[in-house]
Amino acid sequence: MLLNEVVHESAEYLKELALSHECASHPLFVRLKNRPLSKQQAVALLVNYDAHASLLRRLLLTAAAFMPEPAVGFVIENVRNEYGNGDYGACHQGLLRDLIAKVSSEKKTDSKATQEVLEPGFSASVRIFSGVRKYITKVVTYYKPKLDRNCKKHGYFAPAITAGAITATEIMALEEFKAMQKGFIDFGLAEHPWFDHVNVECEHSEESLALAQYFFDEYNASASVEFGFQKTLAINVHLYDGLLEAINRYEDK
Ligand SMILES: [Fe+2]
Ligand SMILES: [Fe+2]
Repeated sequence: MLLNEVVHESAEYLKELALSHECASHPLFVRLKNRPLSKQQAVALLVNYDAHASLLRRLLLTAAAFMPEPAVGFVIENVRNEYGNGDYGACHQGLLRDLIAKVSSEKKTDSKATQEVLEPGFSASVRIFSGVRKYITKVVTYYKPKLDRNCKKHGYFAPAITAGAITATEIMALEEFKAMQKGFIDFGLAEHPWFDHVNVECEHSEESLALAQYFFDEYNASASVEFGFQKTLAINVHLYDGLLEAINRYEDK
């Protein structure tokens, strides 16, 4: 179902649609904006972020292979960024884990909970919270859509659904990084290379909008794009629930 039954010629409206979706005003963003994180909260947040980002990387790889030939290029650059643009030492997961290591060795704060988080092999001891797990289970459906009876009835095109899912992810990733970066100011880590994502995600969201536009123009598939887009935004609520759970778990009482 298209928003207000309006058929859009430009995919640009998707940005507004994402930012006015309930996921964009999730309490996670309020929490990150209003109060600093403790060390253990920062680590728990990052470990949980890593869990979902690891899946998304793989789903993007699959999505690139799944696209019509002319659309592969819109996805491939994004995946290449994830893997360090040819230098695996600069891959995004490596940067994230370096940030976890730096937060862990940062001097301020302490409590018993810190021990639980920061013991050797600490990342294994941080729970992946239920919201993140739920996100991981559900998002696959829209990155690798199998057209059920409902989708077939609407004439949805599977690669365009994937394009919608990618676009929702990339637009919201920019919001996530802007919010998370604030939480690392007090650690002196807001300029850590992982937070270059504030720029990287800007590019990704533009590329993903170009991908969505391709399906608008070449396949008249805006309904399929919007279907994947809206479903993924709704699933993002679970992700943000999980990241907030991770922070709340280590909230000082
Ligand atoms: Fe990344
Ligand atoms: Fe991205």
